[in-house]
Amino acid sequence: MSSSTSTISVDGKSVELPVKEGTIGPSVVDISKLYGQTGMFTYDPGFTSTAATESKITYIDGDKGILLYRGYPIDQLAEHGDFLETCYLLLYGELPTAAQKADFDYRVTRHTMVHDQMNRFFTGFRRDAHPMAIMVACVGALSAFYHDSTDISDPHQRMIASMRMIAKMPTLAAMAYKYSIGQPFVYPQNDLDYTSNFLKMCFAVPAEEYKVNPVLSRALDRIFILHADHEQNASTSTVRLAGSSGANPFACIAAGIACLWGPAHGGANEAALKMLEEIGTPDRIPEYIAKAKDKNDPFRLMGFGHRVYKNYDPRARIMQKTTHEVLNELGIKDDPLLDVAVELEQIALKDEYFVEKKLYPNIDFYSGITLKAMGFPTSMFTVLFALARTVGWIAQWSEMIEDPSQRIGRPRQLYTGSPERDYVTVAQRG
Ligand code: CMC
Repeated sequence: MSSSTSTISVDGKSVELPVKEGTIGPSVVDISKLYGQTGMFTYDPGFTSTAATESKITYIDGDKGILLYRGYPIDQLAEHGDFLETCYLLLYGELPTAAQKADFDYRVTRHTMVHDQMNRFFTGFRRDAHPMAIMVACVGALSAFYHDSTDISDPHQRMIASMRMIAKMPTLAAMAYKYSIGQPFVYPQNDLDYTSNFLKMCFAVPAEEYKVNPVLSRALDRIFILHADHEQNASTSTVRLAGSSGANPFACIAAGIACLWGPAHGGANEAALKMLEEIGTPDRIPEYIAKAKDKNDPFRLMGFGHRVYKNYDPRARIMQKTTHEVLNELGIKDDPLLDVAVELEQIALKDEYFVEKKLYPNIDFYSGITLKAMGFPTSMFTVLFALARTVGWIAQWSEMIEDPSQRIGRPRQLYTGSPERDYVTVAQRG
């Protein structure tokens, strides 16, 4: 990383600050010494201009609509690779050789079962509990079951915790689904690939033989690749912040899942599908476009807009293609929701409001239609996102822990509350 300097003037005093350059993308002004030199903080709510960390994992060029995992374009990975290969790439920085891949797949597969006592956690929930509530609790609870992989200072324990999390997320996600529909849990079957195994755990029942549809399995695997990492988004930053205190990785990932749940983040896929269902028919689209543009109406077009992408989300393009593949495979010729989505996208992309604000469809716009067609209820959509993002969270968490300069994350604030004042007894309060 080469460096130059930048000079800013604070209260008439000139301060020279180092500028750090990355491999690609904007450089950063290193303000870490600013407070010491000027007594002032910087102010950037929502972190729109702040790089919270240095990272080698994922790169987004929001203006051009580019997403790279360790330098590889997302469309190439989605087309040619599989999810576990992507996990390896994100974790270790390189695509695996055939031997490394076989070894990695084996190591992940060996950890697919969860401690049998985890079943009792599930039965403690109401059947109508949101599966994301169950995931937050159960993933956090893993730290109570796997004490031998919670010492974050031990690289071997960190590696085991990473394998456990990638392997157990599908099992826990499928259990959350099975519990919600009152069906028995289906154990993992380790001779199946990662995604086929997940489909089986979700959709098989003990009374019948279940055959995995390879087209659906490949499509879901690709969806997992698309969701695997997305640099310093809200949930990843949450995982990093939680981890910066030295919390164990299971607790950190549980924090990430909680953050992902919100409708502005991972919850948008569920919200997008509900919106398409609410719109119902293409003739009602103008009404919803008008609502989205009305500043007095909190409604937003779900699945549209992104903090970083000011161009078409590259993941959305692949997702759209995958949607068509899945609907074709399932023989769904006319899906009214797809009709609404396609028309809504066309109208919004031409509308001045959306054009001017550079609001394009994001990954969540089409993912809901695809997952619904595969048989997942809307409440599971964000769970699938969490399952796939787990590897990104772990890779980012590991990168942070392995960084020798890592310190606890501790943002500062602009205080706008009352100045210091003396306590007043109840009797004296007017
Ligand atoms: N519909 C209508 N107007 C919108 C939308 C939308 N979906 N998104 C942004 N805007 C407007 C917003 O009102 C604002 O207008 P103005 O400048 O006049 O006040 C302008 O565009 C900029 O929006 P912002 O809220 O300042 O942008 P942000 O970067 O803080 O928010 C976002 C990004 C993704 C939260 C937002 O676009 C949004 O709420 N989209 C809908 C939810 C969604 O689809 N989220 C999934 C994101 S992709 C998956 C993931 O990474 O989790």
